[in-house]
Amino acid sequence: MEFLSLLKRLSEARGPSGFEDEVRELVVRELEPHVDEVYVDRWGNVIAVRRGETNYRAMVAAHMDEIGLVVDHVEKEGFLRFRPIGGWSEVTLVGQRVWVKTRHGGWVRGVVGSTPPHVTPVGKEREAPEIKDLFIDIGASSREEVEKMGISVGSVAVLDREVVELGGGLVTGKAFDDRVGLAVMIYAMSQLREVPTTIYAVATVQEEVGLRGAMVTAERINPHYAIAIDVTIAADVPGVSERLHVTKLGRGPAIKVADGGRGGLFIAHPLLRDHIVKIAEGEGIPHQLEVLYGGTTDATAIAFRREGVPAAVISIPTRYVHSPVELIDVRDAVNASRLLASVLSKTTPDVVEKLMEKKLK
Ligand code: CO
Ligand code: ZN
Repeated sequence: MEFLSLLKRLSEARGPSGFEDEVRELVVRELEPHVDEVYVDRWGNVIAVRRGETNYRAMVAAHMDEIGLVVDHVEKEGFLRFRPIGGWSEVTLVGQRVWVKTRHGGWVRGVVGSTPPHVTPVGKEREAPEIKDLFIDIGASSREEVEKMGISVGSVAVLDREVVELGGGLVTGKAFDDRVGLAVMIYAMSQLREVPTTIYAVATVQEEVGLRGAMVTAERINPHYAIAIDVTIAADVPGVSERLHVTKLGRGPAIKVADGGRGGLFIAHPLLRDHIVKIAEGEGIPHQLEVLYGGTTDATAIAFRREGVPAAVISIPTRYVHSPVELIDVRDAVNASRLLASVLSKTTPDVVEKLMEKKLK
């Protein structure tokens, strides 16, 4: 399996939160050969089970959904007004080509229009529009025509963007958040031989709207430990001081120490985190530690289920997250995959038991 072609197929699949079908189909097909069982739960989460030498359960999570748009009004001239699904910045939306999902199961192309500078009042040319003022143009000229195309209030949309390679091993595209995480997880599963614990490789839904899929799957699996695979910020670009870079492209996968969490920081389980760092060192896999002050991952939802789940995160440094030009170094992703496979193979029952509760008296 070639990593880059897997990433390309996953990235170009269309799956806004709650409508992950196209991604799910791909994920199921890619995971099936490497696992013993595959379930799709009531919410659409994919749970792929690889039986191990013990019944200890390891959960790996990567999310299938991407940020998207939902139509909340159709203008009588045929333009679509929309609201965001997930955290968009309006400056990245203007001028984008999008796919709008139809009732018939297909997708039609559209563009996010804006007012040309020529007719913008003097002095206002440089003001960024707000999302509520933007619209999608699908080429329709009336509400009736929009209706006939199978589009109405409630239709969803995502960016229309292909993956392309840049120089130096870098690639750019949409929805690397978190299709690169899925690619890393699938690739690692394909590399595994004997595993000491049973592995639940979970492709979650609705992460971008509140870590929803991770909550219900963690509750069901009740894992002994968990690792989320997601992108993290690489702000290693001009104009950003080094302290705020968080991670740097090409320095290897990031092992998370903490991030913004939900209603308070998420702190990766220190023992599990150190165990991952030690494995990276032992295998000679380049890596960096990450303290992110905004944003979080599925690990946050998993960690607080039931009696508490030791949870950690392996992240792929990504520039321009939540934009049409998310950018990664493929080597970081491949190394993340190597690291994940090593961790799953080397987290033996004695390590799992150290993560479990102890009776002191
Ligand atoms: Co995201
Ligand atoms: Zn993500």
